[in-house]
Amino acid sequence: MAPVEQSGTALFLKRWLRRPFAVGAVVPSGPLLTRAMAETTVACVGDRMGHVIELGAGTGEVTKALLTAGIAPGRLALVERDPELATFLRTNFSGPQIIEGDAAHLPGLMVANGVERLAAVVSSLPLLSLPGEVVTAIVDAVFEALPPGASMIQFTYGPKPPVPQPLRDRLHLESTRGRRIWRNVPPAVVWTFRKPAAA
Ligand SMILES: C[S@@+](CC[C@H](N)C(=O)[O-])C[C@H]1O[C@@H](n2cnc3c(N)ncnc32)[C@H](O)[C@@H]1O
Repeated sequence: MAPVEQSGTALFLKRWLRRPFAVGAVVPSGPLLTRAMAETTVACVGDRMGHVIELGAGTGEVTKALLTAGIAPGRLALVERDPELATFLRTNFSGPQIIEGDAAHLPGLMVANGVERLAAVVSSLPLLSLPGEVVTAIVDAVFEALPPGASMIQFTYGPKPPVPQPLRDRLHLESTRGRRIWRNVPPAVVWTFRKPAAA
C-alpha cells in the first residue's frame, strides 16, 4: 500500500474515534464499492452539464474512483465537514475543488464557492448513523440543489433505502437499488434517488 493510503487509513480511524456517528465507518470504502459508486455516478450524469458534488469525501477513496471513471477533475467538488479530513483532501487532490462545510447547507456552499449547476450528487455520508433531523436537512438540501431529473447516489450498509420513506414520498423521489457488494467491509448497497424531471 502506498504511504498516502496508509496515512489516510490511519487518519480515518483517528477521526472515527473522535466522531464515530459523523464518520460512520472504521475504515474507508473498499475498491469494489468505490467503483460501483463511480460507475453509477457516470451513468446518472450521462450528458448532463454541471458539477458532480461528492458529499463526505473523507480521505478520498470515492474521489479517486470518480476520477478513474472519467469524471473530469475540474467538474468535481468535494464537500467535507471535518477540518482534518478537508486538509488531507487539499494535500492529496490538486484537481477537484475542496469545500470544507456541512452538506446540510449545500445550496449556500455552492453559491459561496461558485458552483452554479449540478449534474449529480454522490454521497457516502453515514445517513444510517445520523439523527433523523440531520438526515432530513441533508436530503432536503441535496434536492434543493439538484435540478429536475438529476440524481443523488448514496451507499448504505443497511437493508433499507438510506433515504427514509417519508422523505422519499414528500420529495417524490424515484429509488433504484444496486446489487449488494458482499466483498466490501461491511457489505454495502449503492442506491440512486432521482428527482422527477417534472418536479
Ligand atoms: C463513511 S465516511 C466516508 C468517507 C469516504 N467517502 C469513503 O467512502 O471512504 C463519511 C464522511 O462524511 C463526513 N461527514 C459527516 N457528516 C457530514 C456533513 N454533514 N457534511 C459533510 N461531511 C460530513 C465525515 O467526516 C466522513 O468523512
